[in-house]
Amino acid sequence: MQTSPRRVTIQHLRQMKEKGEKIAMLTAYDATFARLFDEAGADVLLVGDSLGMVVQGHDTTLPVTLDEMAYHCRAVVRGVRRAHVVGDMTFGSYQASVEQGVANAAKLMKEGGCHSIKLEGGAVHAELVARLVSAGIPVMGHIGLTPQSYHQLSGFKVQGRDSGGRARLLADAKALADAGAYAIVLEAIPSDIAREITAAIDIPTIGIGGGVDCDGQVLVSYDMLGMDEAFKPRFVRRFAMLGATIKDAVGAYVKETRAGTFPSDAESFAVSEKSAPQAAEPALYSTGAAVKK
Ligand code: KIV
Repeated sequence: MQTSPRRVTIQHLRQMKEKGEKIAMLTAYDATFARLFDEAGADVLLVGDSLGMVVQGHDTTLPVTLDEMAYHCRAVVRGVRRAHVVGDMTFGSYQASVEQGVANAAKLMKEGGCHSIKLEGGAVHAELVARLVSAGIPVMGHIGLTPQSYHQLSGFKVQGRDSGGRARLLADAKALADAGAYAIVLEAIPSDIAREITAAIDIPTIGIGGGVDCDGQVLVSYDMLGMDEAFKPRFVRRFAMLGATIKDAVGAYVKETRAGTFPSDAESFAVSEKSAPQAAEPALYSTGAAVKK
């Protein structure tokens, strides 16, 4: 009998920091990619609101709704057996009040099935984080470049380069840790500040453009897989060039379809194969994950 690997918990993540083991986190938006990332050993899968850009084609993360987030969380949760799944609180779903944030985070946990939530912002959300934690909802913080503040920040810019910004980042990280957050994403900040924050707090820091001294790393999966050949910011390493691979595969399919060389006889059904006329095919489409559990 196949045994399920043990689910990564927030306690496990804390222990990884204590032992100096790096945490590998990636974004995922559907069951098939989630299964692949889970099987490859990713510890945490973030259903990031970056889905607004890489899946939905928007210029920012702002248009994503909580219902859309819950939909993608459900798909990702179906794909994983071991990874901890984090659902991103979407723009406008928690900024109005602590009550709004608690109600919407509970909705995302309930409808999305994720194991924790992430929200952007530091000390300003300390009260909300404390309330969520006391309601049983684990919270991952996110400071530095916070994409939901795209217009307030006047674009996607590295944060904390002046002394005031540096002090604010440190204060924000401490406020989130004190409020009970279990981890904090540090996005697009100088490496030495990320190192200082990582040493100053007990909970794991997960860097994206935060340098190598964070307790873990996160990348947008579509970017590290090279889905968009034209997009390569400095902090992204492309571990594959799937965009080119997919175009080659689809180009070959188009060519063979047009030439009449696809499908072959072996890829088609014949009346003569009558031995089990009512036999069902094992499945008509890959399910991404569910049947493999
Ligand atoms: O939405 C997202 O993918 C994120 C990561 C970039 C951390 O917040």
